[in-house]
Amino acid sequence: MVSHNINNTKTQFLEHQKQKMGLIPVTVVALWYVIVVFVGFPLASNAELDSSFYKNTCPNVSSIVREVVRNVSKKDPRMLASLIRLHFHDCFVLGCDASVLLNNTDTPTKIESEQQAFPNNNSLRGLDVVNQIKTAVENACPGIVSCADILTLAAEVSSVLAGGPDWKVPLGRRDGLTANRTLANQNLPAPFFTLAQLKSAFTAQGLNTTDLVALSGAHTIGRAHCSFINTRLFNFSNSGKPDPTLDTTYLQTLRKTCPNNGPATNIANFDPTTPDTFDKNYYSNLQGKKGLLQSDQELFSTSDADTISIVNTFASNQDAFYESFKASMIKMGNIGVLTGKNGEIRKQCNFINKKSVEFDLASAVPKEVWLAHSK
Ligand code: HEM
Repeated sequence: MVSHNINNTKTQFLEHQKQKMGLIPVTVVALWYVIVVFVGFPLASNAELDSSFYKNTCPNVSSIVREVVRNVSKKDPRMLASLIRLHFHDCFVLGCDASVLLNNTDTPTKIESEQQAFPNNNSLRGLDVVNQIKTAVENACPGIVSCADILTLAAEVSSVLAGGPDWKVPLGRRDGLTANRTLANQNLPAPFFTLAQLKSAFTAQGLNTTDLVALSGAHTIGRAHCSFINTRLFNFSNSGKPDPTLDTTYLQTLRKTCPNNGPATNIANFDPTTPDTFDKNYYSNLQGKKGLLQSDQELFSTSDADTISIVNTFASNQDAFYESFKASMIKMGNIGVLTGKNGEIRKQCNFINKKSVEFDLASAVPKEVWLAHSK
């Protein structure tokens, strides 16, 4: 498992910035200051996104996405959780630009896929569903809708289909031209993070403590591999004992699902009572010491933490949770977006266009779509 040492990374980053600053004239630094102070933190810029972005060019995009996701989730209800997570893992690395969807390639540009980063490897799900959605959308409106917007729409529709809130999804993102595995390892929070580390990972993306607590509520659905909780069950912090913040009855249940040295493919539900329903139970579970990951339980069991009262509010008021979740999902969906002439609209979500036309599109997309694009 990778050591997600945010502090080290941050120190290295700051050191790097200081060295760079030494080479930059004072006027440029001043200009940068003006941009950051008066225009806002660049990562958080979103002015150009608009929920009616495809009104004239692809009016049915939302229902196309919904129908594909609905069909898939009939057979695989967990897919709703997987698609929400996919959007999160996209946005925390280079912004919401569908970088997470890019496969490894050598030419024309070398791309080290984020899919093999530690938090994603053997864990990310839904890549094939996104391709299915993209094919359906391309059939209706070729070359119009970005893969980044598809990920965002799929996350919203997944919330709704799991019984959670709906919201108007700001659209108009464009797809990035590269991926970054190193950043994926650095930016994505780990299940063994302390509250301070979690906050730091979210702050780095322009997200605050309420965003952290609200977005963690997505863990009201879905599953986690036993490998992410094994030390909590058997040898927490090398103590030879389980995590003391874990309810003892729940501990016994989890040990049955996740025996010591059990198969690597074993998984446990995040929410033991309503595993596929998007409700506020995540928060009452935390109150009952039934958070699955250490990072979940940290939100309630860290002494004197400011997150405790937020957990209590969401546990007692589902509307409050939904309102915050919607707002935080929109905020997360705005991270580092590419708009206007930046990036591109990928033809096939797993490859940048140059690559897909040269090598891969023919096998991945129906012939007529490929022919239409290669003209
Ligand atoms: C706060 C820090 C977070 C940490 C440390 C974390 C960590 C994890 C881990 C370790 C898993 C299990 C993956 C596996 O076993 O394959 C997981 C699953 C999941 N995460 Fe998170 N996560 C965090 C935040 C979020 C956020 C912000 C969202 C979305 C808004 C999210 C949505 C999900 C969902 C829905 C699943 C279940 C996926 C499935 O069943 O396929 N997580 N997370």
